[in-house]
Amino acid sequence: MRVMIVGSGGREHALAWKLAQSPRVSEIIAVPGNAGMAQLGRTLAAPLTPEALLAIAHAERVDLTVVGPETPLAAGVVDLFEAAGRRIFGPNRAAAQLEGSKRFAKEFMQRYGIPTARYQSFTDSLSAVAYIQSMGAPIVVKDSNLAAGKGVTVAQSTAEAIQAARNILEAPEGGQVVIEAFLSGQEVSLLVFTDGETIRPMPLSQDYKQAFEGDMGPMTGGMGVVAPVPLLSEAQLAQIERDILVPTLHGLKQEGIGYRGVLYLGLMITEEGAQALEYNVRFGDPEAQAVLPLLQTDLLEVMEAVIAGRLHEVTLSWRSKVASCVVMAASGYPGDYARHLPIRIPAELPEGVLVFHAGTELHHGELRSSGGRVLGVTALAESLEASLSAAYQAVKRIEFPQAHYRCDIGWRLR
Ligand code: GLY
Repeated sequence: MRVMIVGSGGREHALAWKLAQSPRVSEIIAVPGNAGMAQLGRTLAAPLTPEALLAIAHAERVDLTVVGPETPLAAGVVDLFEAAGRRIFGPNRAAAQLEGSKRFAKEFMQRYGIPTARYQSFTDSLSAVAYIQSMGAPIVVKDSNLAAGKGVTVAQSTAEAIQAARNILEAPEGGQVVIEAFLSGQEVSLLVFTDGETIRPMPLSQDYKQAFEGDMGPMTGGMGVVAPVPLLSEAQLAQIERDILVPTLHGLKQEGIGYRGVLYLGLMITEEGAQALEYNVRFGDPEAQAVLPLLQTDLLEVMEAVIAGRLHEVTLSWRSKVASCVVMAASGYPGDYARHLPIRIPAELPEGVLVFHAGTELHHGELRSSGGRVLGVTALAESLEASLSAAYQAVKRIEFPQAHYRCDIGWRLR
């Protein structure tokens, strides 16, 4: 079977790595892919529009398309493929609104009684400023539209919140903000496979989203992740399924929206219980780089069951190990960052260590950086300490000038 993977990050490399292990996958085509994915199959440069992707699927006789990032999902790539009778893994455009519009997501949560922070949404600065002043700080300002994981400001002062809201609302193309109460607690990511009826959770993970140690500095796409995290008991996980996931699927059904793919629930574990922070309609990145190496089941079987609406027939099995992933970024990320830096990855790395590529390319046969997040170094081991130690040992062996990485991934769990 010929599988096309859409995207070019560490998440997509992890998807390609896992799918390549399936005995029924004969070829991987990555669009546009990266240098790591090129080792597993072919890469093709193309715009990630639904039309361009469908044209490739036809021309290359692709049997299954797997969409990594949210933008093509929000643009309706699944709807277009389904209309053309082509198999694709991911939710349709209507379902992708859960991530594509933070306002839609918050209104949806409110409609179906899903526990979440109180909020208001605005399109004009005057009302947004008045609301921020009435709420005080800390307070959270979110770009309602897709912002590549960087649209959230956890403001420590009303001045910071007002600035963040103005940056979004006074942009030339206009915008919308969601302003919500700050919740304190541990933030975790719960990713599940679902066909709209059955829910199959993945191990709970924790992403370290800020650029610097101690969770300081600007938000990034994610600087590292650990899975599984022992922050919720089985009973608490069952409660989240009952109070958040089941009402989410029920709400979608009520609104005539089918959901097939991965649903990513961002959660804050507060003293009053788990609150939904956000939905994403895809695998997390870097979450996928820790969670997929833990999956023992053939990912192709799971994806096919999701698409066919028979996920109830599939049981997932997971390695009883801990996976830690440390992201190596280019100096300056998430701001303006250095490019075209030479990278050397040792040919031999210890068992259990995986290096997933993100912003990498081959230039005259030499590996170099081409993006902000460049590599994700994952290590699987028996314990959190052992997996972090193995990941950092591998990071130190990679030659990458001025690489920026956090030295404290996992600190909230120690
Ligand atoms: N790691 C955060 C995200 O994938 O959105």
